[in-house]
Amino acid sequence: MCGIVGYVGDKAVDTLLIVSLERLEYRGYDSAGIATLNGGKLGIRKQVGKIQVLKEILKEEPLEGQLGIAHTRWATHGEPSTENAHPLTDCKSEVAVVHNGIIENYTEIKKELLREGHIFRTQTDTEVIAHLIEKHLNKNLLVAVQKAVKRLEGSYALAVISIKDPDRIVVARYRSPLVIGVGRNENFVASDASAILNLTSNMIFMEDGQIGFITRRRIKILDREGKPQEKKVKIVKWHLLGGPQRDGYRHFMLKEIHEQPVVIRNVLQRRVSQDAKRIYFEHTNITKEKLLNIGRVIIQACGTSWNAGLVGKYLFEKYLRLPTEVDLSSEFRYRMPVVRGDTLVMAISQSGETADTLAGIRLAKSMFLDVLSLCNTIESTIARESDGVIYVFAGPEIGVASTKAYTAELLALFLLTIYSGRLKGTLSEEEAMRMLEELKKIPYYMEEMLDNQKEVLECAEKYYQSSNFLFLGRKFNYATALEGALKLKEISYIHAEGYAAGEMKHGPLALVDERMPVVCIAPKDSVYQKMISNIQEVKARRGKVIAIATRGDEEITKLVDHTIFIPPIREEFSPILTVIPLQLFAYHVAMKRGCHVDQPRNLAKSVTVE
Ligand code: G6P
Repeated sequence: MCGIVGYVGDKAVDTLLIVSLERLEYRGYDSAGIATLNGGKLGIRKQVGKIQVLKEILKEEPLEGQLGIAHTRWATHGEPSTENAHPLTDCKSEVAVVHNGIIENYTEIKKELLREGHIFRTQTDTEVIAHLIEKHLNKNLLVAVQKAVKRLEGSYALAVISIKDPDRIVVARYRSPLVIGVGRNENFVASDASAILNLTSNMIFMEDGQIGFITRRRIKILDREGKPQEKKVKIVKWHLLGGPQRDGYRHFMLKEIHEQPVVIRNVLQRRVSQDAKRIYFEHTNITKEKLLNIGRVIIQACGTSWNAGLVGKYLFEKYLRLPTEVDLSSEFRYRMPVVRGDTLVMAISQSGETADTLAGIRLAKSMFLDVLSLCNTIESTIARESDGVIYVFAGPEIGVASTKAYTAELLALFLLTIYSGRLKGTLSEEEAMRMLEELKKIPYYMEEMLDNQKEVLECAEKYYQSSNFLFLGRKFNYATALEGALKLKEISYIHAEGYAAGEMKHGPLALVDERMPVVCIAPKDSVYQKMISNIQEVKARRGKVIAIATRGDEEITKLVDHTIFIPPIREEFSPILTVIPLQLFAYHVAMKRGCHVDQPRNLAKSVTVE
């Protein structure tokens, strides 16, 4: 993963780079570093730990200069340590490199460079790049980087500086995102636009295989063969809610949970006409004829976005009668899927940069399939490489555990279902309107739930010391069980399993005893009675049951240990509500356990490596 930024211009380079780096911290946060060039001298500060630690060091020992690069790391090769933190240098400390990606053939290159006498100081894969550049560097850094990257296998986004060619930052991209920000008498480079959006809206998204450089007044981009490329500048504006400020909330995650009603309300206003008769999608780029002719859908995604995809499968099958598979991108990309020409591949991704999901898209395109993506990050690689995109408009999500992007993805799936159902005639106009009217109530329901967290807090207080949790749900809320368990795992480090409730007797029931809290998602829906039977089975083994139930359901309260109510809602839409107490539960449990909620250990928000 890792995040990269670079700057050349008149502003205070260390401050600017640190501020931008903080906007990328969601990509990794085990160590951070910065390098600047000042009057022919290379200055480097790096440190294991969060960016805050580096900031403190820079307060004591600032770095001046005309240009610089910086990095926040999520370790792949080599443990998190100050030594392994980027920027990495060559033998003579004349070249500094920041890298996002993985160099798969680094062992082979390292052996070769060692034989040639290069001295290695870290366990990273990246260090070979610095030495390869050193080997080829005479005076022209661009040429040296061009030669170096020819040897690399794997993925990389690179920013390189050197005292031998001190006026520019050389950049290169292959399978890891990199964007150049265009300024006046200054230019920027970053892993994604959000890091530099406060500095410029003019962005050049580099393509795979491209290499180039930025100076204060120039930007040059070449292809793999060294042919100059057209610089396609895009204006990126993302003035939606939720910047990188916590707005008084203790954590980004809590702020993002609370933003959900506003997100849903805004998206509905934007996408649904006032009379609830029309739904608007701007960038699908897939004609109505094509949509009508889709015979099969494969949804591929990772993590929380996969869970949203599972709800999508149930929706498409029920309302569109479309055979739908939902696959993990990391499996989809390697399993040689059997497809037909009428298969639509859908990717779902908050970041729009997840390496496996992107690979899934590329695979689909290599099979000449149409790809429609649901994405949160505007102009992300996934958004740009898909044939069409439906932005979910959750606004920037900073907390590593995804919350508002999940419910925004669900809303996009609801709307897409209604839109396609009308188009195919599987939904009548009256039914579609009824559904849309019901969707409009969701923000109010969410507000109601967020205003009353008493039961959630009580449950967190009671169970925060448990070591295991089970989450059970059926049909549309099977995904909620998975998502509830995932949230708890991610931020509180408690072992939690999400299960389809019907499968409980095929294994997990053996785990149930009086110490096992079982969260049962049991709104009044078509599988309610089945869930009640499952709850009985848990209670018969003395398990502790926390039920997520529909307001007014007195029957369930007699059966279970705790009940958290949601307002009554059509079953297909219920996952957008049932997940809210589970997000809050995970948050409060993590707080009680003293965990780092926004930046859980070992995880990163955007997984740009395989
Ligand atoms: C990481 C994040 C998760 C996210 C998953 C997929 O694991 O920590 O929150 O669900 O990646 O990310 P995407 O950006 O593709 O939705």
